[in-house]
Amino acid sequence: MRRLATCEPYHSSPMPASRVRRATPGDSEGIRRIYNAAVLTTTATLDLVPRDAGEQRAWMAEHSGVYPVLVEGEGEEVWGFSCLSAYRPRPGYATVVEDSVYVDEARRGQGIGRSLLEAAVEAARTHGFHSVIGRVITEQEASMALHRACGFDVVGIEREVGRKFGRWLDVALLQRML
Ligand SMILES: CC(C)(COP(=O)(O)OP(=O)(O)OC[C@H]1O[C@@H](n2cnc3c(N)ncnc32)[C@H](O)[C@@H]1OP(=O)(O)O)[C@@H](O)C(=O)NCCC(=O)NCCS
Repeated sequence: MRRLATCEPYHSSPMPASRVRRATPGDSEGIRRIYNAAVLTTTATLDLVPRDAGEQRAWMAEHSGVYPVLVEGEGEEVWGFSCLSAYRPRPGYATVVEDSVYVDEARRGQGIGRSLLEAAVEAARTHGFHSVIGRVITEQEASMALHRACGFDVVGIEREVGRKFGRWLDVALLQRML
């Protein structure tokens, strides 16, 4: 797998119209704002406590090379982000990668989530991964539909593995083979 520096521009996306690029440290607060809104008000993530600025910077530093953070936005404004993360720590899982994608509530329904997820899939392909898995809370209909629209199939459901806001939550595993 080719390793890229954290802030190298993301050139391998085949979507010339897209403004998706690799995140830089300057995107950290924009990403944190979008992510923390999801933590506090939605079941999109099973994180329960918002990230502080230091935690966000540490998360950014962990996501480099074959595990990039991608952003779409204008100037210093971040409209949404996607990322790739290790799926499981054991070495036998090294050819699988997990995606995440979040779009600012005010920017949804404009194709940004699709651009970000497609760019993440393309990054996974470029870096030699064999498949991408999204772990999506089943009640997150937009994310379920987005993954399906980007060629992911539901390959399993984990029943009531999540608990947030006093409710049990099912997690769907959506996989796209590369
Ligand atoms: C899921 C999410 C990223 C979608 O972002 P978005 O920019 O609004 O999505 P897009 O406009 O690119 O839509 C792409 C496709 O996704 C599906 N989709 C998006 N929003 C949808 C909705 N509210 N209901 C049903 N399908 C939806 C559609 O198939 C759509 O294609 P279409 O426009 O041709 O119908 C966004 O709703 C979000 O940030 N949700 C909260 C975070 C989350 O659940 N993240 C997943 C955790 S991994």
